[in-house]
Amino acid sequence: MHIAVLAGDGIGQEIMVEALRVLETVNLPALRLDHADVGGVAYRNHGSPLPPETLDLAKTADAILFGAVGDPELDGLRRELRVESAVLGLRKELQLFANLRPAKAFAGLENLSALKAEVAGAIDLLILRELTGDVYFGEKGQRETETGLRQGYDIMSYDEQEVARIAHVGFKAAQGRRKKLCSVDKANVLQTSVLWRKVVEEVAIDYPDVELSHMYVDNAAMQMVRNPGQFDVVLTGNLFGDILSDQASMCVGSIGLLASASLGEGTQGLYEPIHGSAPDIAGQGIANPSAMILSAAMMLRHSFGLEDQAVKIEAAVANVLADGVLGYDLGGTASTSQIGDAVVAKLSAA
Ligand code: IPM
Ligand code: MG
Repeated sequence: MHIAVLAGDGIGQEIMVEALRVLETVNLPALRLDHADVGGVAYRNHGSPLPPETLDLAKTADAILFGAVGDPELDGLRRELRVESAVLGLRKELQLFANLRPAKAFAGLENLSALKAEVAGAIDLLILRELTGDVYFGEKGQRETETGLRQGYDIMSYDEQEVARIAHVGFKAAQGRRKKLCSVDKANVLQTSVLWRKVVEEVAIDYPDVELSHMYVDNAAMQMVRNPGQFDVVLTGNLFGDILSDQASMCVGSIGLLASASLGEGTQGLYEPIHGSAPDIAGQGIANPSAMILSAAMMLRHSFGLEDQAVKIEAAVANVLADGVLGYDLGGTASTSQIGDAVVAKLSAA
């Protein structure tokens, strides 16, 4: 099991330490961990947020554990040098087009959700976000209009193959869950979405056992706080998925709790928390490592087929939360390492 460990910036470093400790605690085949710089730290050390060594390592590894990138001091750099281009570059270069962002209520945390407890307690959904297309990767730039005004533009587009391959992943995911798929788009305004909807319907013919529905993204944002329990798999594009997944995290309780897997056609995957580098709290030892630990569990499941070990880690995190070991993000006082300790202790006791 060859893993590229890209901890990145800010709290990425702190939370990665805990995820690696947790991996050491579970019974795994031999691990080979190779660390490399990514993001702001890579820019400072090598002049690029995604240096060739890091990209090569990522390409050859079986899986990539990714912390976070983000460095406010480097925000002024031009787009290719901005730290975000590292994660976008990895997704594109490795063709990791399917981003799985599960959001599930944790027992005992219902009262900490931004929603009413009974509404939050029903959350058990998977946001399946397309990750290598859309307005994120279309032609973009800044130019001048004919009347001399500065203008920014970003082209949104999806071709039918891009939509079909993510739709297949979505229907298959739904088959393994409650067999409901809600495709989220903006087909009342965007041509990209009109095609998206049509292709999703074509793909649906192969999956008669899955109940397909469509929802406009504005309505989906509203339904996500009104009644998130109605969703099983939410299939959507890159931009809408970015927004809805942050929203879903606060419905569960904290952005420090949501993990993600980015997958392509094979078993290689990149695993990262959905949160960012949180520069405001970096270095203080108070970040919640749960999302990073849960991302490592997703890695065991999706890249290595180690379902038992993944479930054990997920249960340990859930039990630690249920015990009331809460980080600052959830109104508690447990430090990053105390949460890591508690998860390790649960696993050792199990
Ligand atoms: C995410 C992040 C990234 C995205 C940023 C860091 C480029 O917000 O993974 O959700 O927009 O995809
Ligand atoms: Mg995001």
